[in-house]
Amino acid sequence: MNKLGNVLFLIGSPKGKRSASHNFASYLEDQFKLKGVETETSYIVQHQKDEKLKELVKKAREKELLVMVNPLYIDSIPAITINFMEEFTREEVSPGKKQKLLAVFNSGFPEPHHNNLAIRMCEIFAQKTGIEWVGGITIGMGAAFESQGVEDAGFMSRNLKKGMDSIVDCLSLGNPVPSEAMLIASKPLLPLFFAKHGMCWFGGRMWKGKVHDESIKRNMYERPYD
Ligand SMILES: Cc1cc2nc3c(=O)[nH]c(=O)nc-3n(C[C@H](O)[C@H](O)[C@H](O)COP(=O)(O)O)c2cc1C
Repeated sequence: MNKLGNVLFLIGSPKGKRSASHNFASYLEDQFKLKGVETETSYIVQHQKDEKLKELVKKAREKELLVMVNPLYIDSIPAITINFMEEFTREEVSPGKKQKLLAVFNSGFPEPHHNNLAIRMCEIFAQKTGIEWVGGITIGMGAAFESQGVEDAGFMSRNLKKGMDSIVDCLSLGNPVPSEAMLIASKPLLPLFFAKHGMCWFGGRMWKGKVHDESIKRNMYERPYD
């Protein structure tokens, strides 16, 4: 097996560097660097104009491994990433070039399976563009990583780190990635019972906190059409 030479991270969050997607990519990038793999990161949001998008697609076509890291938007792929994928399908493939694709999706809801459909779309994209599909990592409760890195999340990110480390090990050596590694990285960050109740409680507090007008506070539980 040939060792991996280079990897391009394509961040699909419109929030760019201030996103959870950036933080997940950052962790993976550090691990690849430790293995001696050359890395580069591009933010799709900065490449929306025609010329910039074409430049990005050209660059992406040159890399051995593409890692697309995205938020889940309406159970699907963000529009800027779809735009990139459509442009990518129009770019001619250099003969003999073998590329690989890994996709990472993070959602607001705590159950990672919400991301499965978007991952499947990426798999079909890989098939249609002649790229070898490596697999997909699904992460629930992604917002927890908007303002902290994977390394800083302690107990919550232990499986994510374990799975990601093993995926990076395999890819760096040019070995196939066992599906077990994807499953470990895709485990819920917290037991779902706690995650769901915690999110309801924190979400409720946050929305209630946004109401400053006392007269609205008094009436906000009214349900006139019940
Ligand atoms: C327009 C929009 C649509 C979204 N749709 C979903 C959704 O369908 N399911 C879900 O679980 N989260 C959804 N979310 C939440 C994001 O996936 C979540 O906040 C994610 O962590 C954002 O990642 P980022 O910081 O990398 O952009 C949506 C957020 C936005 C802004």
